[in-house]
Amino acid sequence: MAKIKKIAVLTSGGDAPGMNAAVRAVVRAALYHHIEVVGIEHGYEGMINGEFIKLSSLDVRNVIQRGGTFLRSARSLEFKTKEGRAKAYQNALDHKIDALVVIGGDGTFMGAGIFSQEYDIPCVGIPGTIDNDMYGTDFTIGFDTALNTVVEAIDKIKDTASAHDRTFFIEVMGRDAGFIALQAGIACGAEAILIPEVEGQEEKLKEFILSQTKAKKTSQIILVAEGNNLGGAHEIANKVAADFHDLSIRVSVLGHIQRGGSPTAFDRYLASRLGVAAVEALLDNQRSIMVGYTNHEVVHVPFNKTIKGHRNVSAELLTVADILTI
Ligand code: F6P
Repeated sequence: MAKIKKIAVLTSGGDAPGMNAAVRAVVRAALYHHIEVVGIEHGYEGMINGEFIKLSSLDVRNVIQRGGTFLRSARSLEFKTKEGRAKAYQNALDHKIDALVVIGGDGTFMGAGIFSQEYDIPCVGIPGTIDNDMYGTDFTIGFDTALNTVVEAIDKIKDTASAHDRTFFIEVMGRDAGFIALQAGIACGAEAILIPEVEGQEEKLKEFILSQTKAKKTSQIILVAEGNNLGGAHEIANKVAADFHDLSIRVSVLGHIQRGGSPTAFDRYLASRLGVAAVEALLDNQRSIMVGYTNHEVVHVPFNKTIKGHRNVSAELLTVADILTI
């Protein structure tokens, strides 16, 4: 394999706190190994449109603590087409890019997987999404920060829920996965947690609310993952309101605040380790892999495994939630 002299790095898909820390680590690790680095703005869209910027060590000063991504992000429909990827490849050639580091979620890896099959450019992926739904890594960059944001918000809602004897349905992100809901629900002591991974929640929810009413529990927090089979928080709250007229119900959809904010220490640390690991993997002639983090160690997972694999919710966590939400 030809010696790598220039690496490009991009962030793609939904942004996640810690992406800046990951870009910083890629830039600094590459420069440490005397490799030039170029940032691509707006993810694959920018690769197609030629938005390449040279990055120096100074350019990534003071970004480790910033949320969002200074390279900006996008979800590119054009990169899903052969023509789009051909334009991206031509731009990479024009900029003499020898290897690519992509930071994002499963859609980002899917794109990189296809691109690296079609063209001879080694690609390494760093998992960055608040959803934590990627197979092959215990954590994705941004999840810990999002979790903390959700818990902080719910703690506040709990104050007012208890002051007014209310039942709150709180909807959190996660696309079609329930990792944010489950872990935040446990961490903030929610009374019930509704996630897409668990079947038959409607009946259980009714029984649960009956039991809470009998136990004279006056306020409750019911956490709903956005991808829930029963619908979003509004829909579920409406169904419950139709059956339980005495409940004072309110709905709160936390929305995009979950994606913002300064990354936690853990997300900065994770992003820094994975950024360095991505560059070192490329230098080690690795290609089409994700650098992940399992059992506190950096791991290499082939793209096809992480793309095809499905990350299951831990049975132990479900049991903990079951025990603590009674
Ligand atoms: O994948 C990250 C995520 O925040 C999901 O949790 C959510 O479903 C989605 O992105 C929202 O995307 P958008 O920013 O396009 O509204």
